[in-house]
Amino acid sequence: MNSLKRLVRAPSNIALIKYMGKTDAGANLPENSSLSMTLDALSTWVAFERTPSAKGSSGGSSQILLLPELPAGIAGIASGVLRLPHLSAAGRAKVIRHVERVKTAASEILPAFGLRAHTEFDLVLRSANTFPEASGIASSASSFAAITLATALACAADTEAFERAWSTQVELKRAFARVSRQGSGSSCRSFEGPWVLWEGEGAHAVEATLPELSHFVILISEETKTVSSSEAHLRVKTSPLWSGRPERVERRLEKLRAALSQGDLATIARLSWTEAWEMHSLFHTSEEPFSYWKAGTIDALHWFAPMILTQPIPPIVTLDAGPNIHVIVPRTEADAWRANLHGRFGVSALLEDRPGSGAQVVSS
Ligand code: PMV
Repeated sequence: MNSLKRLVRAPSNIALIKYMGKTDAGANLPENSSLSMTLDALSTWVAFERTPSAKGSSGGSSQILLLPELPAGIAGIASGVLRLPHLSAAGRAKVIRHVERVKTAASEILPAFGLRAHTEFDLVLRSANTFPEASGIASSASSFAAITLATALACAADTEAFERAWSTQVELKRAFARVSRQGSGSSCRSFEGPWVLWEGEGAHAVEATLPELSHFVILISEETKTVSSSEAHLRVKTSPLWSGRPERVERRLEKLRAALSQGDLATIARLSWTEAWEMHSLFHTSEEPFSYWKAGTIDALHWFAPMILTQPIPPIVTLDAGPNIHVIVPRTEADAWRANLHGRFGVSALLEDRPGSGAQVVSS
């Protein structure tokens, strides 16, 4: 087996209908379906180096090395400031376990798509994000999707055949999205785009009739959150507001899907606003209440509230599990919104992106 170097990237995604609460924590199976918009520039880049396994005759398992280093070759390609991930020992162990999971799955998935698999190699992974991690921009979604694609590609004996299949056979992406879900639930929505529905074990793109869109993040705080999303998934079920949530969300999702296919931006905006408030209300009312909001979050929510409730076509405003605020508007209005948001929140407080198409191999 030859040595191989490749670069992949996977975007984050922002859910309008949230995944919050699991029926199976081990497999990351959700209490309710969720629906998100895949992003583009806000992403994780992973460069990997595959070399023949050094375990030789001494036995033992193949080596996996995870380096928070700038992947070579991305300076000048990636837009925005690149940030190195800060991985705790537990976080690192979780990623290594996930790489092993993807290798095991690849030996079944790849042959089913006519691709030969091999899993005896050493792997060095280097990664960087284009946005602050763990602050409500779903860095676990982009990083697990990118690690999944990098490992799947490394397992392909013929990488060019893999790349062809990746760009032409959506079921290959979906098979690895299901594996990615087991590492980080929301990552399964970062393999396709721009609108992705996650139901049960897997995710797939859904139709929408919408104008071209722009996406902004108002960065209220870049601090790492103190309650992990794994912990949030557990605590929400202790809230008195949890009762009826899975059924309520499925009804909201049905309305949102109808609005997406009819291009009804006003309904999308009002449903997304309600859903974001509901998820954060679960956090605020759990038995051990917690909040991701900062003073600036509340200030921004007050600023947006009258627009959402009264404007004929309001912006789509939502929050992830963090203090920062996502705003989605028609691209024809992006210049006006950029000026408006700069004026209100400051130039340095704004990240900008657009809908994207999911995890991709960058170099070959
Ligand atoms: O994938 P996890 O376990 O990090 O869950 C994150 C869930 C939210 O980001 C809060 C909502 C969502 O659907 O993306």
